[in-house]
Amino acid sequence: MGLNVYEVNTEEAKERTHHKIIFGDSRNMKELQNESIHMVVTSPPYVTSKFKKGQPFKIDEYFEMIEQVFKEVYRVLISDGRFCLNIGDIHTKYYYDDGRFWRIPLAHMVLQKAIDLGFRLLDTYIWDKGFNRYKGGAPGPLFGSYPYPPTLYNQVYWEYIFVLVKPGKRRKMPKEIKEESKIPYEKWVEYTRQIWGVESETEWIKEHPAVFPVEIPKRFIEMYSFKGDTILDPFLGSGTTTLAAKLTGRNSVGYEINPRYVKLIKKRVGIGQTTLDNTKCDFEIIFREDAREGEWL
Ligand SMILES: C[S@@+](CC[C@H](N)C(=O)[O-])C[C@H]1O[C@@H](n2cnc3c(N)ncnc32)[C@H](O)[C@@H]1O
Repeated sequence: MGLNVYEVNTEEAKERTHHKIIFGDSRNMKELQNESIHMVVTSPPYVTSKFKKGQPFKIDEYFEMIEQVFKEVYRVLISDGRFCLNIGDIHTKYYYDDGRFWRIPLAHMVLQKAIDLGFRLLDTYIWDKGFNRYKGGAPGPLFGSYPYPPTLYNQVYWEYIFVLVKPGKRRKMPKEIKEESKIPYEKWVEYTRQIWGVESETEWIKEHPAVFPVEIPKRFIEMYSFKGDTILDPFLGSGTTTLAAKLTGRNSVGYEINPRYVKLIKKRVGIGQTTLDNTKCDFEIIFREDAREGEWL
């Protein structure tokens, strides 16, 4: 049962990469066998992105969804595999009932869910998203009592990326694969800085509200996986992780609940386009019966 998950480290895997895009709810990743994924990188939906004034603020349901997806991530990830989780805190007036805006440490709340399931924290990165938001017309900072004290809110243009590990025995890699996956010194210096300045791009992509720049998954894939590995993103969005896997010689599987993004994914990932560098890729797109407009974006 399950999809044919790609054999890692074969000659074929090194030359040609395979990418599966599954439209369906990642609370159930029934296509994937246990321990068939070498690394996960994702950015879960925001709890507030589709929220409108007057609706119930369903944070408990959000945490339940997160927990179910993370359980599946734990099941399909190999032991000692890395799970890179990009998430930010939020300002909202709907968490408490006093009608005032408070900052909710959502990132750490979600992190705790992962730790409770058995993941361990290897490292924390801060992604400084730059200041494009001003130019792109996305909502700016909360003004609070500005220009007067005392209720000034900071401008939340950065997010966490937690690097989690499923504890267990490390696999042995053949020497030539290790060599092919080597990280040049200059990249190592750059990548291991705890704060990454990578300008946000989402403001320029009209078809999806929360895209991360390809540099984010690309760095993590280079840092925590080997050539020919299979990378999973359970919240694929516009397909950025598929693109990053393609660019780094890795295979990928991505789940996205909303079939509306198929056109955008095809464009962003370059399906049906000839590549300048002659990269050879196979793409497979599957529409499951539970594909639908999701609850969170
Ligand atoms: C923050 S976006 C990810 C964006 C992605 N990193 C990119 O660069 O385009 C989260 C995505 O998760 C999808 N989503 C929400 N709930 C889901 C679920 N249960 N299963 C699969 N996808 C889901 C949303 O439709 C949304 O596209």
